[in-house]
Amino acid sequence: MLTAYDYPTAKIIAKTDLDGILVGDSLAMVVLGMENTLKVGMEEMLIHLDAVVRAKPKQLIVADMPFLSYETSITDAVRNAGEFARHGADAVKLEGGEEMADVIKAIVRAGVPVMGHIGLTPQRFLRLGGYRTIGKGNEEEQLLRDAKALEDAGVFSMVVENTYSHVAKRITESVQVPTICIGSGPYCDGQILVIHDVLGLSDFKPYFAKSYVDLKEIIEKAINEYIKEVRELKFPSKEHYKDSS
Ligand code: KIV
Repeated sequence: MLTAYDYPTAKIIAKTDLDGILVGDSLAMVVLGMENTLKVGMEEMLIHLDAVVRAKPKQLIVADMPFLSYETSITDAVRNAGEFARHGADAVKLEGGEEMADVIKAIVRAGVPVMGHIGLTPQRFLRLGGYRTIGKGNEEEQLLRDAKALEDAGVFSMVVENTYSHVAKRITESVQVPTICIGSGPYCDGQILVIHDVLGLSDFKPYFAKSYVDLKEIIEKAINEYIKEVRELKFPSKEHYKDSS
């Protein structure tokens, strides 16, 4: 899986064999330039989900439930998950373990498939003490309990973010639903990355991400070439305008 937040990217992804698109709340940081994911809400998420849906990709579209869209009450959670489904999401994703079981059950009961998200849960970075690898000491057994609780609550899959590879392996072996990992090593059923990291567009790339192209460099070069051609009167040239004479 990869994240996507806009129409042209979703159109490109639609031509590939990728299994799923996450309209992630990483939108806040990689697209909107915010300092963390707490700052993005339902309104922005829906605008970007709509853009991805309009591209009609064949991939599964998962919409990320933003901070405070599912923690305040089960009613809010179901209403917001339903709103994503109404806008064309095939499923929603929400962060948290055991403590989110009742919320997940209610959303699934309402008919919206839920993807879980355990390990490093960036919406809780304040409580976790920053963006760090989760799974040392007591955290390892807690993660296993979280994974089981999510499965029992009815998730169809779960993201396992930034834990040790042996912990991700234990989780993957202990649940029946697919684990989709980011920064948790290879012993998972699938992988997910933020597309801006993959394309070399992010300001900051975590150590566990890989860039397959440096689009920042390519785009900067193209812009500089355009500026040069305009200044040297090489653009627009004959094929780019109509002359009535
Ligand atoms: O918002 C996001 O991009 C995510 C992925 C990192 C899994 O939640």
